[in-house]
Amino acid sequence: MTDHLVVGSLPSWRDGPAKQSILTFRDITNGPEKNVLRGLGALFAGWTVIEYDEQAREFLSRAVHPRFDHLHPRLTYHPMLELVTAGGRLGIADPDHSVGFGYVCSRMRDIGLGRTFLTGQTLDRRVMVTWKLPASGGSMRAVWYDEQGPARVVLRVGEVPALEPGPSEVRVRVRLSGVNPGDTKKRRGWLGSRMPFPRVIPHSDGAGIVEAVGEGVDPGRVGRRVWVYGAQSYRPFGTSAQLTVVPEHQAVELPDDVSDEVGACLGIPGITAHRAVFADGPVAGMTVLVHGVLGGVSALAAQLAHWAGATVIGTVRREHDLGSVNRSALAHAVALDGRDPVAAIRAVAPEGVDRVVEVAFSDNVDLDAAVVKNQAVIATFATRRDRPDFPFWPMLFDNVVIRLLGSDDFPVETKRQAARDLTTAAHEGALSIAIGDPLPLERAAEAHDRVEAGGRERVLLAIPD
Ligand SMILES: NC(=O)c1ccc[n+]([C@@H]2O[C@H](COP(=O)([O-])OP(=O)(O)OC[C@H]3O[C@@H](n4cnc5c(N)ncnc54)[C@H](OP(=O)(O)O)[C@@H]3O)[C@@H](O)[C@H]2O)c1
Repeated sequence: MTDHLVVGSLPSWRDGPAKQSILTFRDITNGPEKNVLRGLGALFAGWTVIEYDEQAREFLSRAVHPRFDHLHPRLTYHPMLELVTAGGRLGIADPDHSVGFGYVCSRMRDIGLGRTFLTGQTLDRRVMVTWKLPASGGSMRAVWYDEQGPARVVLRVGEVPALEPGPSEVRVRVRLSGVNPGDTKKRRGWLGSRMPFPRVIPHSDGAGIVEAVGEGVDPGRVGRRVWVYGAQSYRPFGTSAQLTVVPEHQAVELPDDVSDEVGACLGIPGITAHRAVFADGPVAGMTVLVHGVLGGVSALAAQLAHWAGATVIGTVRREHDLGSVNRSALAHAVALDGRDPVAAIRAVAPEGVDRVVEVAFSDNVDLDAAVVKNQAVIATFATRRDRPDFPFWPMLFDNVVIRLLGSDDFPVETKRQAARDLTTAAHEGALSIAIGDPLPLERAAEAHDRVEAGGRERVLLAIPD
């Protein structure tokens, strides 16, 4: 919680920051408080803001970016001064202290002071701030963007303040950062999505070594190899940097026999694949149809289903791609542009298939309807057309379940289960992933372009030590 900030009017600061479970940045008004917030904006440049309203967003984009870009949080005491000049009566509330402003300032000079909770009152409004300063004031090399657009225009490479883990978090020194289509969609503002934070360090997936742990995390984790998921899911600073910070369960120990390269490919595609296959229960003894098995998600879905005891039928769009398919997990591979793909699938599954893992719902739903069993599930994570038609009555008579998958919002426990299963499957040698040579951090834009072009190999960035 402490690398997040809370600014707003609170019912009673006496409740204490520790009890704030939802961190907000809202209720920003004109007047003296604005000065306070302006100063705070500088202090918090590059820090996590968990939740904020539209007005706050405006404020942050004006005050934090780019005007205060050059101000290192360590070097500026402006926020404190502005709190004073705004007439605030300040106190510090941390577990052990309740002291005055002078003490806060002196504590601030002790860089690396860790958590500081400030509460106070400006005129008639209560203000509470929660922050954490970078302990050593160090910096890290990273790729980031402050506005959405084409990769070559908006991605920047350079130094940004280093990150510190908060309670229940770990800091990972990243070796490889995995790039996924979802990362490039966020960057380019797909479907009208906006910047969720003033600055984003992209990519949710990666692999590296735990370098530091926050309060409440077993220090024995330091030095362990991990793969990381969700680093840039509802969080601003992902894995395209030397350091990333995630909740400790999102850094999953990598067995010795699983490479960093594989680890960096397990996050978004693996967790999505896992849910597509298992969300509706075990698949042992079932027949699972997986579309687009040369793709990142689908390749893993096919292998997970096979690992779990299903008979797997995989498809590719074009016949000439059949030769590229890794058949080890497949009972049969079908080309969707072949003479009669429905018959080819029915030849392997005369009774129909139990589950479909669907990468292109609008393209394949008619075929899916023609090959499913009664009570089958079509689990889909993408579609070409965003308002697909489907054959309602035949699917109704087959009691088909359409499961839509949005991986950012899978229930936390299902992600944790997926992480455990993926790690075990990788350890057991059940996952083989086509991975291209990692590109250096400086070529992040090229990496994004490759992902958008839809290559057959997973795209990684190599992060310098
Ligand atoms: N909903 C979620 O939570 C979630 C999670 C992960 C990914 N996604 C989305 O899912 C999509 C795929 O992700 P990915 O990482 O697997 O991408 P990928 O590695 O580029 O793979 C996409 C695969 O889908 C195949 N494909 C495309 N249209 C097809 C069709 N009509 N029938 C059969 N196969 C088809 C492609 O075949 P070709 O090689 O022939 O082009 C390719 O093999 C992306 O749009 C991504 O953003 C969504």
